Amino acid sequence: MSELLTVAMPKGRIFEEAVELLRRAGYPLPPEFDDSRKLIIDVPEAGMRFILAKPMDVPTYVEHGVADIGVAGKDTMIEEERDVYEILDLQISECYMAVAGLPTYKKSNDIAPKVASKYPNLAASYFREQGEQVEIIKLNGSIELAPLIGLADRIVDIVSTGRTLKENGLVELEYIVPITSRLIVNPVSYRMKDTVIDEMAEKLARVIEEGEQQ
Ligand code: PRP
Repeated sequence: MSELLTVAMPKGRIFEEAVELLRRAGYPLPPEFDDSRKLIIDVPEAGMRFILAKPMDVPTYVEHGVADIGVAGKDTMIEEERDVYEILDLQISECYMAVAGLPTYKKSNDIAPKVASKYPNLAASYFREQGEQVEIIKLNGSIELAPLIGLADRIVDIVSTGRTLKENGLVELEYIVPITSRLIVNPVSYRMKDTVIDEMAEKLARVIEEGEQQ
């Protein structure tokens, strides 16, 4: 286990908000965080190493202990079901998971109508709970294409501003679950480095609370 506290950060839409939150909590993240292709950034003065991963992979790095902690969307946590602790709701990157489709969508008589998603486990468990049998088609992005070109009747995807749905003439059919980013921790790291991890969670919680009061 590294001496440095290793933090897995999700590249992409959560990244900027997570960096800002850490800076507000007093962590001196260098300008490299704003414009770099580096995948590992050490901040020795804070005793930290950051690894920049694909959002869906953050819980994997944390579960395997190569990162002590990480920032992961609740969407990823539900989809991946990794053996990690979720210790703080960072309340950033708020969005929600929904079922969407064409405005003309009508329940079909197919035995298993097709649903496209980047979240096959989450989608499957949602439809199972609803008692509806569907065939899930896994895609890796641009999910909104699927109903437009007839690959699937519906999609299960994240809605943030709602712009992607609107600009592609799709509508929300069902709300599934609210999503925010979470601070996640490897269980062994939490035993070995509890002081520094708790300190970080407390600092972040304070900043989040201040933000709520503004
Ligand atoms: C996400 C999501 C939607 C879109 C929703 O995609 O899958 O497509 O954002 O955001 P909106 O409601 O603000 O329009 P992302 O941009 O992460 O890329 P992806 O399509 O490659 O998954």
